[in-house]
Amino acid sequence: MAAEKLIAVIPGDGIGPEVVAQATRVLEHYRDARGLPLVLWNLDLGADRYLRDGTTFPEDVRKRIAAEASAVLLGALGDPRVPGLEHARDILFGLRFGLDLYANVRPVKALADRLVPLKDRAASAVDMVIFRENTEGIYVGMGGQFKRGTRDEIAISEDLNTRKGVERLVRAGFEHARAHGKKTVHMADKSNAMRHAHELWYRVFFEVAAEYPGITAKHVYVDAMCLYMIQDPSQFEVVVTCNLFGDIVTDLGAALQGGLGMASSANVHPAVSRCCDASHDARRVGMFEPVHGSAPPLAGKDVANPLASVLTVGMMLAHLGWPEEEKRLEGLVARAVTERRCTRDVGGELGTRAVGDWIVAELARSV
Ligand code: NAD
Ligand code: IPM
Ligand code: MN
Repeated sequence: MAAEKLIAVIPGDGIGPEVVAQATRVLEHYRDARGLPLVLWNLDLGADRYLRDGTTFPEDVRKRIAAEASAVLLGALGDPRVPGLEHARDILFGLRFGLDLYANVRPVKALADRLVPLKDRAASAVDMVIFRENTEGIYVGMGGQFKRGTRDEIAISEDLNTRKGVERLVRAGFEHARAHGKKTVHMADKSNAMRHAHELWYRVFFEVAAEYPGITAKHVYVDAMCLYMIQDPSQFEVVVTCNLFGDIVTDLGAALQGGLGMASSANVHPAVSRCCDASHDARRVGMFEPVHGSAPPLAGKDVANPLASVLTVGMMLAHLGWPEEEKRLEGLVARAVTERRCTRDVGGELGTRAVGDWIVAELARSV
């Protein structure tokens, strides 16, 4: 039998457990009916646990994931009972930063014409992948507050960008373009305003681009990119950008693909060629999560769309070595939408669990 693949499952908060339950059924199908050597490891982490005993993201869990797991499946984190979101940051950033998952890969792909909210645009116009830098930028939490609560108070959040961090992310974007026959890579920045940090991005982007002669490298300011994504998204194939802008443009991208209930993502450490980071390991763990959050108003009502999580399982299976299963799941999700076997946010009338029932039943029928 092939080597077992340990998958840590963190349902998290809000709608996280509901959508992860459906994603888990898909994984169980692959394990039980198709014989994939998957071992699921459920982790009780999230707001409930934090409020119960103060645990956020234990170091021994991080170490076991790093040493033994092939993948992590995460639902969402964020709970109104923890307004400071300290547990969410510890877990989410503990995974992204703690496992050095430097590329947050977020496909923006519409799977049915009617999901695209733009006038006269078909689904084929929305098919790009955003490579979001995932371990640096404004997310590092450096900075501080001074004279807090006084009229003289100061708050600083530092935006950290390293040569290595920018280069490996840009290179991962070009490698993806080359591997998938894409003709263009865009880099979205604010080098007109953020002189130091984004001058580095600009310079490194065109330096790396020179190594990929068959691919056109295009610079775009991120504000203009938001405009172009609405006016004509078909011009974008692969986009590389920093942590914060990647977060923002992928919610905009989600709107083009039918909402956050349809947007999947992978947090990975690609082994890029001529790698500037010697520590890479092709078998390294990846963390997979829908782009959406915990959507507290929807929680517990069986209304959350689980399709983003099903697509996320597809990205995970591709990462684990079964890319054809990603295609199979994407095909099923597209059918779920066109045949209205879906939740209300994408034009159906089913509940979260019933969508999972349909997906698992069709998966069982598909050969
Ligand atoms: P959100 O993604 O939870 O919700 C934004 C909008 O999308 C809401 O209208 C919501 O109803 C809708 N939506 C989201 N997922 C959906 C689904 N599966 N089906 C149908 N509709 C869906 O973002 P928010 O409201 O800004 O944040 C809520 C909490 O989630 C916050 O605590 C935030 O910090 C957290 N958050 C966590 C993650 C994560 O864990 N990766 C990501 C984003 C936000
Ligand atoms: C995301 C989320 C997170 C982010 C939040 C919850 C910190 O919005 O995964 O897109 O900004 O990365
Ligand atoms: Mn986000």
